Amino acid sequence: MTSGVFVSFEGVDGVGKTTQVGRLKDYAEGLGYEVVVTREPGGTPLGAALRQLLLHGVSGDDADIAPRAEALLFAADRAQHVAEVVRPALERGALVISDRYLDSSLAYQAGGRELTQDQVRELSMWATNDLLPARTYLLDMDPRASHTRLEHSEDRMESAGDGFQQRTRQAFLDLAAQEPARFRVIEAAGSVDEVWRGIRSDIDGLLAR
Ligand code: TYD
Repeated sequence: MTSGVFVSFEGVDGVGKTTQVGRLKDYAEGLGYEVVVTREPGGTPLGAALRQLLLHGVSGDDADIAPRAEALLFAADRAQHVAEVVRPALERGALVISDRYLDSSLAYQAGGRELTQDQVRELSMWATNDLLPARTYLLDMDPRASHTRLEHSEDRMESAGDGFQQRTRQAFLDLAAQEPARFRVIEAAGSVDEVWRGIRSDIDGLLAR
């Protein structure tokens, strides 16, 4: 059994997840929590190698990764991440904050491409031995606005086009509507402080449990 608290952040690229993850970490550490900040893909050494393949392709070969292969590689990253980082930290009683988790696979691999959500969910639940976050913050904003915030050149997922990003946003919103107990949708177009206030107003109840 786990005694820690598992929280994930989701949203389309450029909505400011990483900044808010940092805010939450500082806040929870101030309350005396051990906080483990991690991310997908790439939260482990194996995951870092998978991340490179997923986001930048296989070197010397610009052929597309087939949708089923892509879903399996994200699931492999997740399996290693949960086994090596997330579960051990939860067993120590830590707050684990993951920048993306299984909802990203549901939104990106099933929401926009040829696989169904049930297939992708089953894959992730198998990969993680059924580990879901206690809370998922969906930072929501129009992808056309969030993309202008990106500070690096686009990777393979980010360059997939506006239609894909819009479908992904909608897929996240639909997931949140399906699981209102786990999700909180946070309007992400405001300032860093405004977005943080939205998270802050929810997190105390979760940490006090
Ligand atoms: P992220 O680390 O948020 O990107 P960056 O550090 O460049 O801001 O995510 C990398 C990309 O991977 C992002 O476009 C979403 C995508 N992704 C999936 O398609 N499926 C998944 O299961 C995960 C975890 C991420």
